Amino acid sequence: MANAKLELNGTTTELPVMTGTEGEVGIDIGKFRKDTGAIMLDPGFGNTGSCTSAVTFIDGEAGILRYRGYNIEDIAEEARFPEVCYLLINGQLPTKDQLEQFREDLTYHSLIHEDMKKFFEGFPPTAHPMAILSSMVCSLSTYYPEGRDGEDVELNIVRLLAKAKTIAAFAYKKSIGQPFIYPRNELSYAANFVNMMFAVPAEPYEVNPVLESALNKLLILHADHEQNCSTSTVRVVGSSQANLFASIAAGICALWGPLHGGANQKVIEMLELIKNDGNDYKKYVALAKDKDSDFRLMGFGHRVYKNFDPRARILKKACDEVLAELGVKDPLLDVAKSLEEVALSDSYFKDRNLYPNVDFYSGIIYRAMGIPTNMFTVMFALGRLPGWIAHWKEMRDDPAMRISRPRQIYTGETVREFVDINKR
Ligand code: COA
Repeated sequence: MANAKLELNGTTTELPVMTGTEGEVGIDIGKFRKDTGAIMLDPGFGNTGSCTSAVTFIDGEAGILRYRGYNIEDIAEEARFPEVCYLLINGQLPTKDQLEQFREDLTYHSLIHEDMKKFFEGFPPTAHPMAILSSMVCSLSTYYPEGRDGEDVELNIVRLLAKAKTIAAFAYKKSIGQPFIYPRNELSYAANFVNMMFAVPAEPYEVNPVLESALNKLLILHADHEQNCSTSTVRVVGSSQANLFASIAAGICALWGPLHGGANQKVIEMLELIKNDGNDYKKYVALAKDKDSDFRLMGFGHRVYKNFDPRARILKKACDEVLAELGVKDPLLDVAKSLEEVALSDSYFKDRNLYPNVDFYSGIIYRAMGIPTNMFTVMFALGRLPGWIAHWKEMRDDPAMRISRPRQIYTGETVREFVDINKR
């Protein structure tokens, strides 16, 4: 493809154009400022590619999501979460032997150092589990520092994947004042987490396979989503050569916000509000459209998907199946479906391409599984871990990567004379 030509104040600059494997076109503006003195302004980075990446492909207009070339529909139906972790991080599906070894590693490293249990004692019982998760993940760097030449990176990646679920379950146990339940080696990744969440000492507990399989699907659907807010955060922090645990802890913090992963908690709070207000969902659709109100339909809209979110489609179906299998009737599911129906036929939402996103139905499944609302974003974080790790690794291994350092257009005061405090 020919170079792009950009003219500014009589100066024409030629900028190289690059095309991705799926035909996406990008203009490399790296030398634009040098040639013209100007920068590109793009608040929120809606039109900015921060890197090239071979991890995940999204076509928002067509509703396509692929991990390393595999369609999300196939992966969510067929795969197990550790297999998806391996795929995202290593670029290829594992062989049987490779998967067995990977699973064994994930099991072997799932205990956290006994001393780290003392950290949990310092948090108040009301602490949000996202705050605990991010603090504990960063604390892992105190036990497993990175060697000078990064020789421990591969091991630390496995440690992080293995220990995060233990930390998440311990955070929940701490919040309800129950003793911690240790990981059990014979259980799968998903079943191990369910057991650590819901078993209590001296009581028999069998992991319900419906919960195990629902959790497996949820983790897979959240596993990666290319350059979203938290993944970009991981890359930005990692670009300063911060260690794996510090970079991922930053991603967890970015995920917490209600416009990102925190939306799944907010969706349930919104559905409860509507239910308690006499199920008047039309009132809330009107409120979401009202520009004088801050109210938004949580779980609706997406920066990239402008047709439908394929993850939301899979989850809507899974929601019906899981609730039926568990024999759970949740009035919030009826509220959600009514809300979706009204919103999808409303011109405000149609004109702006606002569709349910991954957070809209996931919370109802978590609720049916017995997972409390304030743990929802932690569940998202557990699922997103392999994606964050894959991007962090890709960024580290990319010889073209430089420290992330955007520019700005300054709009403050021009130079002024400093006035002594006694003369102001
Ligand atoms: N409810 C009502 N209106 C919404 C909306 C929602 N959930 N999401 C977007 N809009 C409207 C905006 O008000 C804006 O309207 P305007 O053009 O009249 O000003 C338009 O749709 C575009 O929205 P914008 O905020 O510019 O899109 P964005 O790409 O910056 O933001 C989200 C994307 C996801 C942050 C946004 O859709 C949102 O806040 N959704 C709710 C939170 C959520 O579910 N987050 C999880 C994402 S996976």
